[in-house]
Amino acid sequence: MPKALLEITGLKKYYPIEAGIAKKQVGLVKAVDDVTLQIQKNEVLGVVGESGCGKTTLGRTILRIIEPTEGSIKFHFDDKEIEFTSLDKKQLRGMRRYIQMIFQNPYTSLNPRMTIFDIVAEPMRLAGGYPEEEISERVRDLIDKVGLEIKHLNRYPHAFSGGQRQRIGIARALALGPKFVVADEAVSALDVSIQAQILNLLQDLKDEYDLTYMFIAHNLSVVEHISDRVCVMYLGRVAELAETEELFYHPRHPYTQALLSAIPVADPTVRNERIMLPGEVGNAADLPSGCCFHPRCKYAQELCKQECPSLKETGPGHFVACHFADELSLDGIGDLKIKNECVGGKKDE
Ligand SMILES: Nc1ncnc2c1ncn2[C@@H]1O[C@H](COP(=O)(O)OP(=O)(O)OP(=O)(O)O)[C@@H](O)[C@H]1O
Ligand SMILES: [Mg+2]
Repeated sequence: MPKALLEITGLKKYYPIEAGIAKKQVGLVKAVDDVTLQIQKNEVLGVVGESGCGKTTLGRTILRIIEPTEGSIKFHFDDKEIEFTSLDKKQLRGMRRYIQMIFQNPYTSLNPRMTIFDIVAEPMRLAGGYPEEEISERVRDLIDKVGLEIKHLNRYPHAFSGGQRQRIGIARALALGPKFVVADEAVSALDVSIQAQILNLLQDLKDEYDLTYMFIAHNLSVVEHISDRVCVMYLGRVAELAETEELFYHPRHPYTQALLSAIPVADPTVRNERIMLPGEVGNAADLPSGCCFHPRCKYAQELCKQECPSLKETGPGHFVACHFADELSLDGIGDLKIKNECVGGKKDE
């Protein structure tokens, strides 16, 4: 198997919490806590989880828009291995063209005083070395590929709808010919019908330009159609990682189960009981002991309060961070049961 395009190992981003005039450190926000994953070339990895679970921090830390506290980020391409964390500022600037980000809010991410042409051309002008004719040709090609009209190139962002602005943002992100794109809530601000169009566009562009995506969203149903694999995060850590179909039909982690049960089903004959998680999503500045999901988990045992579970492979390519992942059996969506023997004969209601 060829090397993964991206290999992330033990990635951490901790923010110190400081107090008083002396700015004494009184704690740590563990926004991303020991994340290890690989992203294959041409893959779409969906990343989901509740607000504050560290999705944006993960995406930005991989791109070194935010400096990681610890860990390794390796890119493999053109037969080279590049350790991203050891690049200096100049080398990092040189690498920027290969990794880009599509932002959430198409209303604030585009400069209102620049024309569409200049917005899409800017990355090439900043990078330097592109003759104006080449820039012009590439901008026209990209604008066409993202489904906008070339005659609108001299217009300003305010003249466009949210979906159209996101298309402009996508054209800009692709201007330098990236290999890896982080799309952080790229469709979350859009109407559902427009979301589908942008998702289709991203899929088409992936094939056209040979891209690899990390696609971040709150919502599992948004990532389902575009992702090859899905990574579920909870309080800075990976809770479950598997191929999309496997994750949707055979979820192992009780948190993934709860997220899946929250997706509305259009068919009235299908029984879909929503699993309500007790309590609030935890606080990254004050993590629970042991498994950080245990205060909300109805299957939690003594061990879960004491020991943080590592991410284990429970089936081919299916990784779960749960002490009881092997013992949890699935009796249809929304009905996860622990086998009696694993909890010492205690019957699950
Ligand atoms: N600059 C910062 N300083 C301190 N804490 C931060 C900082 N940025 C993020 N955090 C904290 O890190 C955690 C993860 O935040 P992050 O924005 O990555 O979550 P998210 O999953 O993207 O959330 P959302 O779905 O709301 O976008 C949160 O607890 C957040 O408060
Ligand atoms: Mg975010």
